[in-house]
Amino acid sequence: MSSIQPAQATPSLVIENRWDDVVAARLSAAELLPHRGLGPEKERVGSEVGFVQESNSHSPSDPSSHSKEALRHPPAMPVVNCISDLRELARRRIPRAIFEYADRGSYDEVTFNRNRRDLAALEFRQRVMVDVSKQSLTTTVLGETWTIPVGIGPTGLTGLFHANGEMLGARAAQAYGVPFCLSTMSICSIEDVRSAVTKPFWFQLYLMRDRGFNEELIERAKAAQCSALMLTVDMPIQGLRRRDPKNGLSIPPRLTVRNAIDVAMRPTWAMKVLLGKRRTFGNLAGRMSNTGGLTTLSQWIASQFDPTVTWQDIDWVRSRWPGKLIIKGILDAEDAKLACENAADALVVSNHGGRQLDGAPSTVSVLPEIVDAVGDRCEVLFDGGVQSGQDVLKALALSARGCLIGKTFLYALAAMGEKGVMTALDILRSELQVSLALTGTNDVRQVGRDVLRDPRPGVSVCR
Ligand SMILES: Cc1cc2nc3c(=O)[nH]c(=O)nc-3n(C[C@H](O)[C@H](O)[C@H](O)COP(=O)(O)O)c2cc1C
Repeated sequence: MSSIQPAQATPSLVIENRWDDVVAARLSAAELLPHRGLGPEKERVGSEVGFVQESNSHSPSDPSSHSKEALRHPPAMPVVNCISDLRELARRRIPRAIFEYADRGSYDEVTFNRNRRDLAALEFRQRVMVDVSKQSLTTTVLGETWTIPVGIGPTGLTGLFHANGEMLGARAAQAYGVPFCLSTMSICSIEDVRSAVTKPFWFQLYLMRDRGFNEELIERAKAAQCSALMLTVDMPIQGLRRRDPKNGLSIPPRLTVRNAIDVAMRPTWAMKVLLGKRRTFGNLAGRMSNTGGLTTLSQWIASQFDPTVTWQDIDWVRSRWPGKLIIKGILDAEDAKLACENAADALVVSNHGGRQLDGAPSTVSVLPEIVDAVGDRCEVLFDGGVQSGQDVLKALALSARGCLIGKTFLYALAAMGEKGVMTALDILRSELQVSLALTGTNDVRQVGRDVLRDPRPGVSVCR
């Protein structure tokens, strides 16, 4: 149980306190404003993330007044108090090809947009005159305690968003007391992440044609003492994210005539990632030629990922992985039932963040029917569009046990590394806590569908 203190109830205060301690030193005004000197762009970008304006009240005739004023009015600092602030910082700090790899969806982005739109359409019931002075945000998933009902989902290429990104993400998750899931397609390897943390993390697996390689990955995950295996089932073949080939995304990233200016404006990223030690797929060493082009990656995925996978193959995984098994990428009640019948301990309602089947429903719109189909046979996790504590509360209200974040994690990591991820978790925690209180609820484990009003047309919230 935690009592609400003013600093906890106001997200910007949380961040400002943290800011004083850590962020101020890391984000100089120069780093924050790569467009400095470009006139109107500076104004526009500054105001987007809510820069605190500097006072200009010092006397120009007294030179010492500059330094005195500087002490009284330190340089403008951004107030980071929502996930979109982190997204904006990320946009400025990493090259466009990497940013848009995370920020965009597949094809016409219909499903991608639905995820956020349908979450936003749900309305809370505001309840008053309830004692909300003490609250609990802690929950348990698969027998593990989470300090907030939010975990970090698997994302490929994370180490290109920040040097050693997966190691930093896992460290932040460990410090916060939430799970971190490492992708098969990560930049840091399973062993790298193992060396960065002391507590177990999760490993995500794609089934490949070469089952020998899958077996090897499972053995490596066991050796790293991963506490759960997450099998992603919604990518037998890859949907097209149209921006990636247009942006010339390559792995490892390369400096080209086309991206030279973009990269030159992000010297910190260039120094640490472009010239860094870990720049290609850490888990696939020796499995993939290093020719770099995205076409090569797509062709590699097409040639390696197994499009023949069926529910029968779960037996094969089960016979090699005796631990907790999570099936990720369920968007249909029938498939949810089959996942339970095939011995999943948990499933993730997911459409891969709108990056696969365009035209599929939003995850939040199918969550209620999936929860109803599953009953208490396995635990249901949720992802897709979670960018605020309010989003988390809505998913909990529709009976998700917890949420996973994809883009939110990557924005935070790209913006400020490990501290950025901690900041994102802080923001989600703070927003969740306040929203919980204002719906008259005190414990995330007791949130029910009654915190939501009747849905708007187009969003089905089964009752
Ligand atoms: C850049 C990026 C890479 C991803 N890579 C993987 C992956 O390697 N394996 C996987 O199972 N899911 C992957 N996902 C999907 C996420 O795990 C998650 O389902 C999705 O991001 C949730 O939606 P959100 O980004 O709106 O939070 C990726 C998502 C993004 C944005």
